This record gives sequence, C-alpha cells and structure tokens, in this order.
Amino acid sequence: MQKKVYIESYGCQMNVSDSEVVASILAKDGYTPVKSAEEADLVLLNTCSIREKAEYTVLQRINEMNNLKARNRSLKVGVLGCMAERMREELLEKKRVVDLVVGPDAYRTLPELLEKVGTGQKAVNVLLSREETYAEIEPVRLDTNGVTAFVTIMRGCDNMCAFCVVPFTRGRERSRDPQTIVRECEQLVRDGYKEVTLLGQNVDSYKWRPAEEPRASGYGLRADDALPAARSPQPEAFDSLVDFADLLERVAIACPTLRIRYSTSHPKDMTDKVLAVMARYDNICKYIHLPVQSGSSEVLKRMNRGYDRAWYLQRIASIRRHMPDCAISTDIIAGYCGETDEDHQQTLSLINEAGYDMAFMFKYSERPKTLAARKYPDDVPDEVKGRRLQEIIDLQKEKSAARLRGYVGEVHEVLIEGVSKRSAEHLYGRNTQNSIVIVSHRHGGTELKPGDLVQARITGSTAGSLQGEVVDILNLQPVLA
Ligand code: SAH
Ligand code: SF4
Ligand code: F3S
Repeated sequence: MQKKVYIESYGCQMNVSDSEVVASILAKDGYTPVKSAEEADLVLLNTCSIREKAEYTVLQRINEMNNLKARNRSLKVGVLGCMAERMREELLEKKRVVDLVVGPDAYRTLPELLEKVGTGQKAVNVLLSREETYAEIEPVRLDTNGVTAFVTIMRGCDNMCAFCVVPFTRGRERSRDPQTIVRECEQLVRDGYKEVTLLGQNVDSYKWRPAEEPRASGYGLRADDALPAARSPQPEAFDSLVDFADLLERVAIACPTLRIRYSTSHPKDMTDKVLAVMARYDNICKYIHLPVQSGSSEVLKRMNRGYDRAWYLQRIASIRRHMPDCAISTDIIAGYCGETDEDHQQTLSLINEAGYDMAFMFKYSERPKTLAARKYPDDVPDEVKGRRLQEIIDLQKEKSAARLRGYVGEVHEVLIEGVSKRSAEHLYGRNTQNSIVIVSHRHGGTELKPGDLVQARITGSTAGSLQGEVVDILNLQPVLA
C-alpha cells in the first residue's frame, strides 16, 4: 500500500527546494505526497532557525501534532532542516511527539531512519557533509504552479556573517555538478515549466572544478538514484573551471525558452562578469537580490560582511551601468549589536541612495553559537529595534511604491503564474523585474492561463503590485540578444 507523506516547508527557498528532494527520496520508498497533515501517515516539518521567531512558530506547530497523533495513532512526525540540525536531541527529548530528526545533509538516509521509526524507536541523523549536493536526484515538484521552479546549485555557506546561523545549520559550502544543473533545467522545460530560480546562499561563490569529478556521495549512492548515465544528446561537457557567470550562461543557452532567476547574490562577491552575462541574455531576468544588512560601514564590519558602504554602492552603480532596467531588492537588519542612532540614519540614507524595488526587513535576533552571540552583547533595546525597523519599513514602502509608479505607461513582458487571490476574473504574473502584475483573464477572444507569456501595458500601481492590460500574447521563444 502507498504510504502518504505531508511535507511543510518553513524558511527560505532552499528549504522548499530541499523538500522536493525529500519527496523524491521518499517516492522511491513508497510514499506519495498529500496536501494536508490530516491525510498523512508521515508529517515532515522542514524547519528554519534564522530568527528566534521562526523557531517559535515551528515549536508551536510541533505541539499541534499532539492532537493529530491523538486522532491517528500510527502517525509519525519528523523534523527536518535547520532546526533539526541546531536543536537535535533537545527536540527528541523535550518534544515527545517528534519521532524523527534529520539534518539538511542526511536526507538520503531517510528510508533507513523511517524503518527504525516503524519499529517504535526514535531516529536521528544530523551529520553534515562536505560533499552532499543531491546532484543527481530528480526532485518531485510539490505545491507547484507548473510554471516556476527552484533548482539548488550549491549548499552550505562559508561566509560566517557574525549574526547568521546558516553556516552552523547547513555546513560548509559546496557546489553542485553543473551538468546535473543544466539537465535539471532542461527537464523543467520538457515538463512545461517556464521559469527557474537557481538557488544558493551565495551564488557568486559557485565554483566547480572538473578535476574533482567524480564525487563520492556522502551517504553511498544507490544505483536507482542515478539519472541514466548516457543521454543523447549529452549536454556539452564542462571541461574547465565553472564559475557562477559560466553556469548562468550555460543554462541561458541550453534553455532559451526558460526565464532564469537566481538568489542570493553577495555584495562582496558579485562580479561584473555575472552582470555582463545577465545583460547579454534576454531570458535572464533583470532582477538582483543584493542583501546589504546595514548602511553603516562600522556595523558591516562587526557583521563580518566583507564589504563597506562605499563598496556596496559601487556594486549598485555597476548593476545600473550594465542594466539600467534592473530591479534590485535587499535584506536589512535593524538593531544589530552596538548599532547607534547614527548607524541607523546611515541605513535610511542608503535606502534613499540605492533605490530598491523591494526589501525584506528584520529585527536583529541573537542566534546561539554565532560570532555575534559570543562576541557582541545584544545591546539595542527591543523597543529601539522596533522603532528603527518601523522607520526602515515606512521609508522602503514609499520607495517601493514610487518604483512601481515609475513603471506605469511602460509595456512589460509578463509570465502568468496563477489566478489572482482577490478576484477569479484576474490572473497574476511577474515582469522581468519580479514585480507582480495583475491582468484580466481574457485577451480578445483568448482565455489566458498560467504559463502564458504576454506583453502588458502597465496601467496602474499599488503599494506592492502593478495592474496591466494585455496587448499581445507572446508564447514565443524570447530571442537571444
Ligand atoms: N545568504 C543570504 C541570506 C540568508 S538569510 C545573504 O547572505 O544575504 C536571509 C536574511 O535573514 C539575511 O539576509 C538577513 O537579513 C536575515 N537574518 C539572518 N540572520 C539574522 C538574525 N540573526 N537576525 C535577524 N535577521 C537575520
Ligand atoms: Fe548567512 Fe552570511 Fe552565509 Fe548569507 S552569506 S547565509 S547571511 S553567513
Ligand atoms: Fe532558515 Fe535554514 Fe534557510 S535557517 S533561512 S531555512 S538556510
């Protein structure tokens, strides 16, 4: 009998992508994905540790599992991802409802761990690996709109930003074999997908050396996990060092009908070579997420970010030089250790200078084991953090709205992703800059559908989205410049 698994993902896009790898590993073990915890034999929570609040949300959700278990005695509950890595035994000891704890590099061992769980024992594997990239696993797309998908190109992070827990939960940085990345993107095209986002914590430090091939898998590759070895035609071999710009270009050429995005760029590593590749290919979207964290060079130094304000602004200038139409978004932390009011003012002034389309903004949350937790007191009072965050949010809100207003009157290429939540008469999609565009569901006599690529005249804007009027249905292959 088919067993049923429900996977719930928290945190970043990498977790969403990992859940698809987990679904693939479990599919071979006889599990089909289902859409709710109530229907499942196995519930897996793929968790995030980035801020205390993120962990709190999951801990609450774990408690809710007690009710489900009371109704379904055979239900098993597993915690995956970053909290599994960080909290390990604590989860198993304090949360009796948890049967299984598996870290981000140990998903291949899920079948064995589940066997153990099946006999009534608890199971745990939180070993981090220097090699594991799940390179050849074909993900099972979950919760998909059939239009956009994620492809992970690297794992872990070596940057050690002082505030960040990721290097502890995800381990050392490693890059995935480019050939498997190109193949996965080509498969997406065959499956009808129209857009891919290449994922890594710091995509700019992607690096693949062919001499390292073949790589041993951290957990012993099973024969049936491998993609067919011989495929024709073979993607061009990668015979020299491949950096992120090279990879991006290979994907753009191999999949000319696929829109390509990526995340996340790191200001200290983002090269003009990458910007030149972006500018050269129409199918690479003109959007860069470039987290700044703070506008103060002093704070950036204490954050161990590896750049200062001047360097960051020079990177923004380079983006604008290469691609005047490129949208830029960022992440900002308010109230980091030792942040003065002057530092905060510098962040506000940087927001004014950079001209972001969008930003994700957070209050600093101290994370155990990080450099900041060991070295710098978390000394900005919570209400000051809150006030500064609000000022940042208010300013960026104005800026975002102004950026969107600036698009009114232009004609944008919009990829339709789905039906608008507000009205069934409308569809939503995104322009190359990643802003949401709402359009009517009909154009002339044609019913539009997710996956359609249209030209839309931008007729209006709100705080967070654009309204558009479809002027043409493209559904043609974007021409390579
Ligand atoms: N790899 C990405 C960021 C990943 S985490 C990068 O380097 O930019 C996503 C965002 O969460 C970070 O950019 C940062 O703004 C925020 N963040 C990370 N740790 C945090 C902490 N301890 N408190 C508050 N926000 C944090
Ligand atoms: Fe965290 Fe810095 Fe790595 Fe981003 S680059 S994941 S913020 S350590
Ligand atoms: Fe969270 Fe882990 Fe991603 S801590 S942000 S899920 S890498």
